[in-house]
Amino acid sequence: MKQMNIAILGYGVIGKGVFEICKNMPNINVVKIFDRKEKFDNNYLDLFTDNAESIFKDKKIDLIVEVLGGYEFARDMMLQAIKYRKHVVTANKEVVAKDIDLFVNVSRANEVCFAYEASVGGGIPIIKNIKQLKAVNTITKISGILNGTTNFILTKMFEGLDFNEALKEAQRLGFAEADPTADLEGYDMMRKIAILSDLAWNTFININEIKQTGITKITKEDVDAAKANNKVIKFVCESVKVDDHIEISVEPKVLDNTHFFNNVNNEFNAVILETYPNDTLTFIGKGAGSLPTASAIVLDIVDIMENRCLVCYDNERKYKIN
Ligand code: HSE
Repeated sequence: MKQMNIAILGYGVIGKGVFEICKNMPNINVVKIFDRKEKFDNNYLDLFTDNAESIFKDKKIDLIVEVLGGYEFARDMMLQAIKYRKHVVTANKEVVAKDIDLFVNVSRANEVCFAYEASVGGGIPIIKNIKQLKAVNTITKISGILNGTTNFILTKMFEGLDFNEALKEAQRLGFAEADPTADLEGYDMMRKIAILSDLAWNTFININEIKQTGITKITKEDVDAAKANNKVIKFVCESVKVDDHIEISVEPKVLDNTHFFNNVNNEFNAVILETYPNDTLTFIGKGAGSLPTASAIVLDIVDIMENRCLVCYDNERKYKIN
């Protein structure tokens, strides 16, 4: 059986999940974990390092999992890893949304794989599905609930909790970003719908051109009014291909309580794809949290091990590894 030696950059909520899952995978060996000294786990001290360079230079290591979060440092770490000819698997939607073309080009040039299933929809394998569907189908519209934190908050507000209590709980459960502004103001969902749109239509999406409205202005009165009218408020994104351009929106919407999205609660995410000829497809699953997101990461590792790096584009932009 082929073995893969990996290093994990970042030992937070997701990094711990990846380590946990990999411990039970006989052909994936976690040989190093990078983080600051105060985050080292005393039970596995020999695996930990705060020296990323030593990981990149280690020829035994085939693949880097990037779960540091944030933008600049994580981006630099991934670029360095690729230059040292390591495959990279990331959950970093900000880096993928802003720099996908750069990463595809650099990984092609270095003949390694860059995979990012975990960047959208947590445990929902939406990127792999879009990639596979495109072989036969045209995608005409993508709609989604693509942020676990805000869906959790809205669900709890409809159950009677106030906004701040619900946010605290989402943070405690590890759904929210370190700075929850990206969740609450919609930047996180905007990045995710940009990634899916880019993949569906092979078009680089400039996220600065997407207008988004967050959920911070939703009040208890709005929730009560929606309830009284058999409605629900959901924070949703939509992306539609119209002729040669793509229209994207990210905003809270008042929906009839019979809408499919009313079944999508707490940290669950959902994606509806309108396609031809397959018609409508719906996906639902946990969009945030340690193990679902880590599962998406480990699936990418397995795809790379088995030469099925499906996560990048069409033939034109696709790269083959190994
Ligand atoms: N903060 C994100 C969310 C994490 O709540 O959906 C998963 O991308």
